[in-house]
Amino acid sequence: RSIWAVVPAAGVGKRMQADRPKQYLPLLGKTVLEHTLTRLLQADVFAAVSVAISVEDPYWPELTISQDSRVFTAPGGKERADSVLSALRAIEDRARENHWVLVHDAARPCITAADIRLLIDTLQNDEVGGILALSSHDTLKNVDGDSILGTLDRTHIWRALTPQMFRYGRLKQALEASVGNPAVTDEASALELLGLQPKIVEGRSDNIKITRPEDLPLAQFYLEQQQ
Ligand code: CTP
Ligand code: MG
Repeated sequence: RSIWAVVPAAGVGKRMQADRPKQYLPLLGKTVLEHTLTRLLQADVFAAVSVAISVEDPYWPELTISQDSRVFTAPGGKERADSVLSALRAIEDRARENHWVLVHDAARPCITAADIRLLIDTLQNDEVGGILALSSHDTLKNVDGDSILGTLDRTHIWRALTPQMFRYGRLKQALEASVGNPAVTDEASALELLGLQPKIVEGRSDNIKITRPEDLPLAQFYLEQQQ
């Protein structure tokens, strides 16, 4: 197999304000991270999943899925991009330059196998790759302080989700070139800085990122609905 999954799971979850990183919060009898990894494995398309785990993380070894032979770990880094880079280096011996890598947030447990396959099927013959994204339902304002300067043309605005799918060699190169750049908040932005134009594939709106406390019951609702 020549498609890899990379999961950054080394964040502290500051905005969640919980007693542990949000990827380890309980959700329908499992942790958030177990849901995410189980869904990736169930899609049955990946050679392996490389997960970035914080070096101070006491929770990971307790999870049954940490023993799965298809799951590798790498030490997490300071920023999300550092964690992704570390997880890419962990599969360096086995991944080839032109192999596809799907990077998926640990904090998005509602990802469906259908969306994973849609992204792969749509872009596997593409030169660059791309991301799942959502159009915006709300009217978007350009604001300075509390004053509206104008309204954005919504037809050109999309919200970036994960997975984000790029070729191994180029993704690693792009992230290495953008270390320390605060403008790089996802994989696509690193490739954009190389002058490349990643594609968007319209994803599902239930693929939420658990970010704030109110997102956890919402994720539970979506997971139950998807059963
Ligand atoms: N992540 C990571 N390494 C970091 C920072 C983030 O692997 N140094 C991961 C998180 O674990 C999460 C994903 O990147 O799965 C998306 O990041 P975010 O939602 O911002 O998670 P946190 O950084 O943990 O949350 P917060 O920003 O609220 O602290
Ligand atoms: Mg963060």
